[in-house]
Amino acid sequence: MLFDPKPKRRREDLYNFDEGLAMLRKFFGEPLTVVIELRRTGKTSLILTALEEATTPYLFIDLRSVVRPWKEFYELLSYCLTDFLLRISRVRGFYEYLQRILSVIKGISISGFSVEFSLDRDRPTPTQIFTAIDNVAEEYGTKVLIVFDEDSEGYRGHWFCYSEQHCLCL
Ligand SMILES: Nc1ncnc2c1ncn2[C@@H]1O[C@H](COP(=O)(O)OP(=O)(O)OP(=O)(O)O)[C@@H](O)[C@H]1O
Ligand SMILES: [Mg+2]
Repeated sequence: MLFDPKPKRRREDLYNFDEGLAMLRKFFGEPLTVVIELRRTGKTSLILTALEEATTPYLFIDLRSVVRPWKEFYELLSYCLTDFLLRISRVRGFYEYLQRILSVIKGISISGFSVEFSLDRDRPTPTQIFTAIDNVAEEYGTKVLIVFDEDSEGYRGHWFCYSEQHCLCL
């Protein structure tokens, strides 16, 4: 639907982005890619469509909903990881191993696909969480794309620290 106000997810709905899609795919294996453009020019649509077309598993973190940074960030991460576990549940060994690794990190509890974080001082750091995902992915010879959408509110400098991760920031 061309006039749908939401970001597009399918190539047939996306106008004039074939070159952008091809370029973005080339960067999927890089440790960090930053997509910068003016407001409402299709950044989120471009990345969502590229992710849908790729076979690489991905975690899409929409930072627009984070107002008071850390608590809401963990709530958002819990939602995103639950969605991620559901999506990768078809990849047998990978899913089970990731579930096992995450559940031994202090401050994370997993029940079925549902991931919850402790909000006390024992909560895991984002670095611990993303490093665990990265390690499992490496073990399985794949990469996990971690996308931070709407990273314009000052998070970017922070995410740059995760140099071992495979991040895309919009
Ligand atoms: N190339 C395109 N083809 C079809 N629709 C588009 C295209 N670019 C943008 N749109 C539409 O314009 C609107 C804004 O797109 P989108 O949210 O992807 O842009 P954005 O750059 O991420 O915006 P923001 O700066 O607000 O984050 C949406 O309705 C989207 O569907
Ligand atoms: Mg956007």
